[in-house]
Amino acid sequence: MAQDSEFLVTPEGVIDLESLFAGRPVMLEIGFGTGITTAQMAEQEPELGFLAVDVHTPGVGDLIGRIHEAGLTNLRVIAGDAMHVLEHHLGSRCLAGVRTFFPDPWPKVRHQKRRLVQPDRARLIADRVHPHGTWDLATDWAPYAEHIDITLGNSEYWLGGRVPRPSWRPVTKYESLGLEQGRAIADFRYIRSDIAHTL
Ligand SMILES: C[S@@+](CC[C@H](N)C(=O)[O-])C[C@H]1O[C@@H](n2cnc3c(N)ncnc32)[C@H](O)[C@@H]1O
Repeated sequence: MAQDSEFLVTPEGVIDLESLFAGRPVMLEIGFGTGITTAQMAEQEPELGFLAVDVHTPGVGDLIGRIHEAGLTNLRVIAGDAMHVLEHHLGSRCLAGVRTFFPDPWPKVRHQKRRLVQPDRARLIADRVHPHGTWDLATDWAPYAEHIDITLGNSEYWLGGRVPRPSWRPVTKYESLGLEQGRAIADFRYIRSDIAHTL
């Protein structure tokens, strides 16, 4: 695995999460944006390792700066497509969970296939988390919340649904924008179902 800096990971094969995070259970965050809340989570949950992936954000440098400033040893960053990372650089059952907060809503019907939550991705993510691994999501976009209800509610690989806002989830930049515009926030927690054990 080549690394441009101590904290920026440029994977070439399957990532050795065990060494990267000194044996901590690992959470994958898909779409960290500015990374402010990612650094907060890493600080408040030192028992976990955080692998933060974003495909297109100017936030990478800022997040790496925050890791240095706060002296965080449990957070690493990948600049790239999380689906590619999941498919090619993470092994089966290697993650304790996945966090996806305020994914791009893609409101136009013809763009909805671009949404991050899709049946095939639900299967891929289920394969990469431990038995009973988690997928936490939040959105301020009511049609996306319905899309999550339907897609993951119908997935044989996940069990769960809407939950009260988790106390550990910091307010994100996109959440603040949604709240300013009067939108309601929906939080979700799914647990990998037993059927996913056979993947
Ligand atoms: C609406 S922003 C939300 C950012 C942050 N979670 C927040 O709540 O402020 C969605 C983020 O997801 C990232 N993203 C979209 N598709 C992605 C993918 N396939 N892999 C990694 N990041 C992705 C985007 O680049 C963007 O930074």
